[in-house]
Amino acid sequence: MIYLDNAATTYPKPKAVYDNVMKAMKEYGANPGRGSHAMAIEGAKTIYETRELLAEMFNLEDPLNVIFTFNATDSLNIAIKGLLKPGDHVITTSMEHNSVLRPIYELQKLGVENTIVSCDKEGKVNVEDIEEAIKDNTKLVVTTHVSNLSGTIFPIKEIGSLCKKYDLLYLVDASQSAGVLEIDVQEYNIDLLAMPGHKGLLGPQGTGVLLINTDADINHLKEGGTGSESSNLSQPNFYPDKLEAGTHNLPGIAGLNFGIKYIKSKGIKSIYNHEKKLLDIFIKELKKNPKIVIYGPTNILERSGVVPINIINMDSSEVSYLLDTKYSIAVRSGLHCAPLAHKTLGTEKIGAVRFSVGPFNTKKDIIAAVKALNEISLAE
Ligand SMILES: Cc1ncc(COP(=O)(O)O)c(C=O)c1O
Repeated sequence: MIYLDNAATTYPKPKAVYDNVMKAMKEYGANPGRGSHAMAIEGAKTIYETRELLAEMFNLEDPLNVIFTFNATDSLNIAIKGLLKPGDHVITTSMEHNSVLRPIYELQKLGVENTIVSCDKEGKVNVEDIEEAIKDNTKLVVTTHVSNLSGTIFPIKEIGSLCKKYDLLYLVDASQSAGVLEIDVQEYNIDLLAMPGHKGLLGPQGTGVLLINTDADINHLKEGGTGSESSNLSQPNFYPDKLEAGTHNLPGIAGLNFGIKYIKSKGIKSIYNHEKKLLDIFIKELKKNPKIVIYGPTNILERSGVVPINIINMDSSEVSYLLDTKYSIAVRSGLHCAPLAHKTLGTEKIGAVRFSVGPFNTKKDIIAAVKALNEISLAE
């Protein structure tokens, strides 16, 4: 199987990730932070070291402000619902994933106002449009870093500066960029950074992260055991315990630890360059076929990670079915959990076939995908 669905979750993972998931379960699979015996301490050390690795990667000052969650959706819900109260206003964009849009839509029912800034046909946002949307009660701006549909890279540094100028909080959804593009929360004025552990960070599914680079009050959505202040019936008011109720996903975090170490050993830039090289070849080759429509920015410097396409007069799910069954190529088709992004690109009725590479894909994989698409389009 040629796996080109890395935007959904990366596969394969580095061998050390698999090994350390097993090691954590078999050798020190106790409950970290819930006991003072050697196994619990070993687990707690792994978790703390992973916080340090994440803080270092994104230049967050305090590793205790690294919150472990179960996926990017969890991180985004904690941030959005923890921050916004009735009467507040939030600005987001038409390129967001449902894990941003749906919490905001739910909050609208409770009296939190929102403005969804429209992006252009390539999925690009105009920062001035965000500025124009600011109101007296605006509290938060939420944008993706890279669109999971079009691969469009958002100008997060510019948006961060805008938020700083107007004293607004900025939450970035780094689901498609963490581990692939450099992000510095301090330099970019990012207050909250949400990401999955299971995509570009190469960890197992069931891992997510929220980085907190602000003193703003974030209400907890869950209460429960933390292993700290156990005599207190209130949820502790310090990070990470405030936002991490219940047993951690220790095997997942142990695996994530080695996903991050793998990225560190290779260097984010070299991973990005590798993936970009493959996508550039892919786009260049596909452009030769007049039956193939490619979506997203035409300037390749403005895109990363994913390439959505359609074959004229063919249903996207039929294309992905043929790729899977005839060519053993795994991709995603249809609508990609981002309904307004599809509207923005004009693919809300037909969906799109999305190709996404990871660090272990090769030029051979890309050439095989191009050949398969050319054959499928000829058969039409
Ligand atoms: C841009 C974006 N945001 C959020 C998510 C949600 O991530 P998760 O499945 O880890 O909750 C995804 C997943 O594809 C995504 O691409």
